[in-house]
Amino acid sequence: MSSQNYEASPLHDIDEIIVDESQIKQRLQELGQEISEAYEDKEVTVIAIINGAIIFVADLIRQINASLQLDCIRVSSYRDETKPIRTPEIIDRIRLDLKGANVLLIDDILDTGTTLAHISKVIQKMGPASIKTCVLLDKATNRSVDFEADFVGFRIPDEFVVGYGLDFAERYRQLPCIGTLRPELQNPPQWA
Ligand code: IMP
Ligand code: MG
Repeated sequence: MSSQNYEASPLHDIDEIIVDESQIKQRLQELGQEISEAYEDKEVTVIAIINGAIIFVADLIRQINASLQLDCIRVSSYRDETKPIRTPEIIDRIRLDLKGANVLLIDDILDTGTTLAHISKVIQKMGPASIKTCVLLDKATNRSVDFEADFVGFRIPDEFVVGYGLDFAERYRQLPCIGTLRPELQNPPQWA
């Protein structure tokens, strides 16, 4: 790769890699097995919170050995900033009928807990048989509501991270690893 290409690569903006590609791959196999065992012969209805969970869900469901339905709910909790707004906004709703379904709600990261607590309540009203939650990352020290996920990929420190689906201002989702952004890039005026 030429140095010019390297400068243009989003990897260049990463300060520190927190979880690398091979760690993600390994953990996804384990999570897939845990989830397959938890559902046994029941069908699992995966609800992906997008955009953040897109990459994680795409890779994880291929590790799940169970009958599976997939739908997405589009939620916005961040508005191009590293500070969350209070109530997550549902931008596009679930289309599947969840009555009697065994729902596995999947998000990229559990931070304050506001998003998963809110979306779980929305799903609960749709009459599912069960709701479990799965996140790739858990910033366990940053909760503002009491919420824990049933399946967790990695517990990480309370730092803003990007990559593998996680964004800053809709950028960096395509990175194969998860890392912190160089501090000087966290609020560049040209992205506002
Ligand atoms: P919560 O509602 O505070 O738990 O935050 C969950 C949502 O915030 C996730 O769906 C992410 O989109 C976003 N989020 C939280 N922490 C980070 C981060 O470190 N990087 C990127 N997005 C984050
Ligand atoms: Mg996001």
